[in-house]
Amino acid sequence: MSRRIIITGASSGIGKALALRYALDGASLGLLGRNQERLDAVANACRALGAEVATGVLDVRSREDLSRWMVDFDYAAPVDLIIANAGVMEGTRPGGQIEPPDAAYALMETNVLGLLNTVQPLLPAMMKRGRGQIALIGSIAGFVPLADSPSYSASKAAVLTYGLSLRDLLEPHGVGVSVICPGYISTPMMERENGPKPFVMPVDKAAEIIARGIARNKATVVLPRFFGAMTRISGMLPERIRRWSNKSFRFTVGDPE
Ligand SMILES: NC(=O)c1ccc[n+]([C@@H]2O[C@H](COP(=O)([O-])OP(=O)(O)OC[C@H]3O[C@@H](n4cnc5c(N)ncnc54)[C@H](OP(=O)(O)O)[C@@H]3O)[C@@H](O)[C@H]2O)c1
Repeated sequence: MSRRIIITGASSGIGKALALRYALDGASLGLLGRNQERLDAVANACRALGAEVATGVLDVRSREDLSRWMVDFDYAAPVDLIIANAGVMEGTRPGGQIEPPDAAYALMETNVLGLLNTVQPLLPAMMKRGRGQIALIGSIAGFVPLADSPSYSASKAAVLTYGLSLRDLLEPHGVGVSVICPGYISTPMMERENGPKPFVMPVDKAAEIIARGIARNKATVVLPRFFGAMTRISGMLPERIRRWSNKSFRFTVGDPE
């Protein structure tokens, strides 16, 4: 039987690339996003590659709706892998004003609570079955505070800590957890960012590395590895030196579409 995989944020960027990557394996996909048109286009492209696809036009902040959809999808046939990928980015605007308060709240609700909403519904079923995998899309931004994106950095630090804690907790129950920590990946989200983007990676290559890391049930999948190592080291420096070394990485974030 084909692998059952749920991907949130499948209508764009990394989620879309992962959907197409798993479609090539003939997976049975549950694809979620808010933009119906873009989600349908991805679903059709996956079907053309041989995948079976169900879609859900859902906001990950809608806890009950998301839970209902996921439980129904799992009831039809057990889910093997959940990829909690949906996320938003905020930061200092080109005019210099700091991230708008409403946007910062929406970001936390999406990147942190939306991720919890994605993970929780099928945990009891996966634990009972003694199998299943969860991949959380964090970021290299979770390793080090970014002055131009405080809420985004904090949200991704939360994803990293939550994911690694969950991994320890669920290991005896046969459920794997991986935290994916990408650097700069060429997606619409990255295009909103104006500033240095070292070691940018094409999204298809990123999807391949992520899929391989998940297949090995790695605790963290950091990509690109060298940039990830540099960022981790920067996060361990004395605070004054870290701030100084981060000065050349300041950026602004354009308005969402
Ligand atoms: N690109 C990078 O350089 C980079 C680096 C590190 C980490 N990441 C992380 O990778 C993940 C995907 O980012 P991306 O670069 O692929 O961005 P993207 O192209 O902007 O895609 C974001 C996806 O998330 C979905 N989404 C956003 N808010 C949602 C909500 N409230 N409910 C449901 N879906 C929602 C969007 O769906 P709709 O458009 O349909 O609303 C879209 O499919 C994010 O978690 C991001 O933080 C990206």
